[in-house]
Amino acid sequence: MGSYITGSCTPTNTKISLSLFFLLVGVASAQLSSTFYGTSCPNALSTIKSAVDSAVSKEARMGASLLRLHFHDCFVNGCDASVLLDDTANFTGEKTAGANANSLRGFDVIDTIKSQLESLCPKVVSCADILTVAARDSIVALGGLTYTVPLGRRDSTTASLSAANSNIPAPTLNLSALITAFSNKGFTAKELVALSGSHTIGQARCTTFRTRLYNEANINASFATSLKSSCPTSGGANNLSPLDVTSPTSFDNAYFTNLVSQKGLLHSDQQLFSGGSTDSQVNAYVSNPATFRTDFANAMIKMGNLSPLTGTNGQIRTNCRKVN
Ligand code: HEM
Ligand SMILES: *[C@@H]1O[C@H](CO)[C@@H](O)[C@H](O)[C@H]1NC(C)=O
Ligand SMILES: *[C@@H]1O[C@H](CO)[C@@H](O)[C@H](O)[C@H]1NC(C)=O
Ligand SMILES: *[C@@H]1O[C@H](CO)[C@@H](O)[C@H](O)[C@H]1NC(C)=O
Repeated sequence: MGSYITGSCTPTNTKISLSLFFLLVGVASAQLSSTFYGTSCPNALSTIKSAVDSAVSKEARMGASLLRLHFHDCFVNGCDASVLLDDTANFTGEKTAGANANSLRGFDVIDTIKSQLESLCPKVVSCADILTVAARDSIVALGGLTYTVPLGRRDSTTASLSAANSNIPAPTLNLSALITAFSNKGFTAKELVALSGSHTIGQARCTTFRTRLYNEANINASFATSLKSSCPTSGGANNLSPLDVTSPTSFDNAYFTNLVSQKGLLHSDQQLFSGGSTDSQVNAYVSNPATFRTDFANAMIKMGNLSPLTGTNGQIRTNCRKVN
């Protein structure tokens, strides 16, 4: 490095050369671009959208499942498709992590998209980009605001079960722990609230909210009663209930109106409106749904940009479940 800039450079020129050097390195290795597949695979985005639309029209919940896959990918060492790697005899992936086991779904939809893209443009479109675009298309399919997705992520050759266990927030967390978990990934408390609005779609298992039904005070009594038959004090661990009791397949702001009437399903949901510092942001998203839509879209773009592998790092997997 020293020899690269020494010689004829004056101190001022050295400074400029250094800045230029780092700028160029940044562009070559870290920048994503929405037109990344413009010439290498011009039909990549339409292929992903058709497959997502078809999967969501068969089962609306699949849109939620695909969105959650992207979140659980990005929060564990960046958006690198590590979450998609299967365990093998000599490889331990992230699928058995507490937040993922018996919970994540949508892997088959990603496999279908990947095999279509491998026929169309072999070894070009990464699994990490497929997850990012599928999350956006899922949001749109269920009525959310569209946004432009930066592309050019590459796929990891590794995964981390321990990082998955420590970085993906648990539904038992209190507000300050939720704020810390998101702050560790560079997000503000406001972005935590916006991103939690994802729970306006999808389902959760009884085991993730049972304690709230039977032991918490800040829950609407009739709401709690309505959930108890499918989520008894023991048994029924895998019985599902909608995260948004009002409109579970519509990407709207009802998640926030539910919180205000103490109808958050998860302990972590209700923590966002429980007399703490984020109550005002929840109220803001109740009274201004358009602000939620744009804040959410911007936070999704930011989440998709968490530590991507780019340039010559990582690889383009041909099968999203295994390293090439
Ligand atoms: C704030 C911290 C969060 C916690 C504690 C949390 C926790 C959970 C839990 C426990 C479930 C139910 C899982 C099951 O029962 O199998 C769930 C579902 C879901 N989560 Fe989160 N989550 C959080 C944030 C997010 C974020 C940031 C997103 C997306 C950007 C997201 C998207 C979803 C979706 C869409 C579902 C429904 C999935 C389906 O129906 O298949 N969550 N979450
Ligand atoms: C893991 O096992 C597979 C065969 O099942 C083999 O191809 C691969 O090289 C092994 N990887 C390592 C890191 O030992
Ligand atoms: C939140 O949870 C953390 C970790 O469990 C705990 O140390 C802290 O005291 C809790 N904060 C509040 C306000 O309950
Ligand atoms: C609880 O929910 C019921 C049914 O939606 C509603 O009528 C009632 O006003 C709610 N109670 C509170 C305290 O928000």
